[in-house]
Amino acid sequence: MVAVLARFPDDRKRAAMLPALWLMQGMLGQLTPEALEIVAKRLEVPPTAVAEVATFYSMFRLEPTGRYVIEVCTNIGCALCGAEKILAHLEKRLGVSVGQTTADGKFTLREVECLASCGTGPVLQLNHEFEERLTPERLDAMLERLE
Ligand code: FES
Repeated sequence: MVAVLARFPDDRKRAAMLPALWLMQGMLGQLTPEALEIVAKRLEVPPTAVAEVATFYSMFRLEPTGRYVIEVCTNIGCALCGAEKILAHLEKRLGVSVGQTTADGKFTLREVECLASCGTGPVLQLNHEFEERLTPERLDAMLERLE
């Protein structure tokens, strides 16, 4: 945390909130209420300010997730390229709805706004990797790699 703070000379405590939350999530796997409280105390900012940031960005996980988090973009660019079909295929194949985790704890399926890869839609993010120009066949191949 000290190394993170050192990178931000002006209003550095608020500026360090994103990397501090990212660091905390990396250590714990998710941002628990206790983790948010620790970040607020360490950065000396109001807990509500930390909660605002943590709940705004889809990269932060406030609940337990599966080993693989699949985040499907359904914003307009991907929607025009068939994102709804991709999402429906994943729901059927995994046997879960958006926001749920498979019974074996392996996959969590989420719907997110633009992933900033609009020209290669439909797009999803699998943990930290992008899968682009998705088709049902490419989804099946991706899942088979992971199973
Ligand atoms: S609309 Fe899907 S990545 Fe931008």
